[in-house]
Amino acid sequence: MVRFYRPKEIRGIRNLVLGVTEDKKSLSGLTARIPGIQRAIKLGDVTGKLGEINVFYPPSGPIERVILCGLGKGAELEAEEVRKAVGLAVQRAVRLKVREAVFEVGSFCHERLEPVETSRLIVLAGQLASYRYLELKKEQDEDLRRQRFTVSLCIEKKPSILQAVKMAEDTADSVNYARTLANRPGNVLYPEVLAKEAVALAKKDKRIKVKILRHQELRRQGFGALMAVGIGSVRPPVLIDIRYQGASSKQAPVALVGKGITFDSGGISIKPSAKMEEMRFDMSGAAAVLGIIKAAAAMRLPVNLLGVVPAAENMPSGTATRPGDVVTSLSGKSIEIINTDAEGRLILADALTYSLRHKPACILDFATLTGAVIVALGTYATGLLTNCDQMGLDIAEAGNESGEKTWQLPIWDEYRQLMKSEVADIANISSKSGAGTIQGAVFLERFIGDTPWVHLDIAGTAYGDKTPLSPKGATGVGIRLTLAWLLAQKNKHFKYKSNA
Ligand code: BES
Ligand code: ZN
Ligand code: ZN
Repeated sequence: MVRFYRPKEIRGIRNLVLGVTEDKKSLSGLTARIPGIQRAIKLGDVTGKLGEINVFYPPSGPIERVILCGLGKGAELEAEEVRKAVGLAVQRAVRLKVREAVFEVGSFCHERLEPVETSRLIVLAGQLASYRYLELKKEQDEDLRRQRFTVSLCIEKKPSILQAVKMAEDTADSVNYARTLANRPGNVLYPEVLAKEAVALAKKDKRIKVKILRHQELRRQGFGALMAVGIGSVRPPVLIDIRYQGASSKQAPVALVGKGITFDSGGISIKPSAKMEEMRFDMSGAAAVLGIIKAAAAMRLPVNLLGVVPAAENMPSGTATRPGDVVTSLSGKSIEIINTDAEGRLILADALTYSLRHKPACILDFATLTGAVIVALGTYATGLLTNCDQMGLDIAEAGNESGEKTWQLPIWDEYRQLMKSEVADIANISSKSGAGTIQGAVFLERFIGDTPWVHLDIAGTAYGDKTPLSPKGATGVGIRLTLAWLLAQKNKHFKYKSNA
């Protein structure tokens, strides 16, 4: 919970956080009352450069610590700088075992950043930056594990501010929820556990409905591609159908499809052991979908969402799919599985077919699909591929706004020639190397028809080393972007047309 403190009043504040621009104009009258800061500025020790953190300890008075965080050049101050500065300040505060930090909102504002939006940015960044994955740390005492870090604001409590803060909290809760799901190791979170998580979300909100298709049902209905991936594991695959209804039932839903491989060993085409443990994050797309549904319900977004999560564990065994096996997907198309490690596209093929049956206005999928996207974009941007230019542009814009950057890669005819099979309708990999991310998208596109669709390859952005907003591990990518898009689109009814 965010606590509020009256501006210009320092009563009750123990840890105060101030933003400081290079021109120092962001510092208000408050600083004059805090000894030491002016001198530090005069000495040149506080530069205001973006990312710089200075901690002061006033020798007397109620304030124990002042954390000054550099915002860079005031004239160029944008949302991303505020997010970064707040994230770094919170990480320092957490390291100092601070339990509550009070942000003076005014010092983070600028011409283009008014108090309402700035409050939202601070709370969201602060709650993301203080996230830790601790549920499996058994030696730490209970108090420490439960201890929550509180982001508080020093600003007048107005309805518009309260609304923005609630939006930030709902978003942060969902991103952190998705991070926890993704951070769970493969033995703790497997397909049935994901299904239970979806059921638990539905229990908490009557606008959420969930249906789980299990082994027998998947076989009966012909989910041949999903079954082929899950068949090598003792933990059976599931398909999660989770819906959020926030608008009239006449309104076509937006389909959100998320890759839910709870562990990707590669199957018979087994992966090298170095970094194989990272493949516990291979259900980050699924986590994003559940996170978005959770946030949409909390915010009561006036949209209908159809979440589809195919979940499976990709393992080698005596029952596992062999390279060269041919299976029939839910769409009826036969697929030659040349490489069992290209499994994400297989489970997504069936999930996309399933989602089309519910006539969605458009489809957005999230998948840690290819290592190649890391070669192309590193960990800084999500790969975006689409059959609908306008939808692609809108998603990219939402990405820029929310701080989750995307970059589009093309789907041209030359690439479409690559996935040919000698024996089946399509092969799951091509014989030519290069453009691996596009090859993955070309495969998925064959199962889309002409429904407007954006594919987000989050293999590079779903997990990684520590950043200002995230500790090492899962990032919860995709949720902030999608919420920004849904909010921007809600009155436009997702009227897209595919390029086809
Ligand atoms: N889950 C992986 C993709 C991945 C790689 C995610 C690295 C995160 C980090 C996916 O299932 C996979 O193995 N893809 C193969 C495809 C190839 C066999 C065509 C890849 O990218 O190497
Ligand atoms: Zn794989
Ligand atoms: Zn995978």
